[in-house]
Amino acid sequence: MGNVGAKDVPVLLSPEGLRLDGRRLDELRPIRIEAGTLHQADGSAFVEWGQNKVMAAVYGPREVHPRHLQQNHKAVIQCKYNMAAFAVDERKRPGLDRRSQEISKVIAEAFESVVFAEEFPRTSIDVYIEVLQANAGTRCAGLVAASVALADAGIPMVDLVPAVAVGKVAGQICLDLKKEEDNFGEADLPMALVPQSGRLVLLQMEGHMTEEELGRSLDLGVKGCREIYDRMKAALRERYALTPVAGGAA
Ligand code: CDP
Repeated sequence: MGNVGAKDVPVLLSPEGLRLDGRRLDELRPIRIEAGTLHQADGSAFVEWGQNKVMAAVYGPREVHPRHLQQNHKAVIQCKYNMAAFAVDERKRPGLDRRSQEISKVIAEAFESVVFAEEFPRTSIDVYIEVLQANAGTRCAGLVAASVALADAGIPMVDLVPAVAVGKVAGQICLDLKKEEDNFGEADLPMALVPQSGRLVLLQMEGHMTEEELGRSLDLGVKGCREIYDRMKAALRERYALTPVAGGAA
């Protein structure tokens, strides 16, 4: 939600109700998910989502570093989200900043509630997310990539975790904000869903909306997550050359 003069604000919604890139309010940006992209990692995935490009790699369960984080009754899930200096228009200062630390923490917490960590005591499951190109929604793209990478690594989980950001743009509730919508819109609400239980494992909000708008945003986000979920399962099926089970179950 940038603070800029009115003359700089682009027209975010056309009179026909179409967005800057021609999408309808409830439409996702194009998304491509590839599982098993990297050879060195135990599991990996690449996600191209609109103009976002995100790579995720998973290692483990393996020895815990640093050692003092080790837990006797379960695996620790360590997540490192990093945005490359060249990922944004204005060069970002390389290295750890507060934003990356916050995103790493909320993504690790989302996975803590789905991974069967008790099965691997005294180990670490390490999740690396590298954002190579950013255009809003990178924590969601990172979560989707990391979730597919965890499955690719064979880590037992309740379910995959699809994620998407919903927001309020020019007074309308919109699915999957792009950069200008995120910058100049009224609210941004990233969320992640466990489809099997319908439970949200990540929910953040920047900006303002009414309670009624929040309800509609959650409904729209859940619908978006379910679409992403189908794409995640398709990527894993393609990787392991599996055909869909009759009746639609994965
Ligand atoms: O990426 P996400 O929407 O999850 O997080 P954000 O902190 O709301 O950032 C929104 C967008 O701002 C990012 O996706 C980038 O496109 C951009 N950004 C940037 O240009 N420079 C930064 N240092 C951080 C973010």
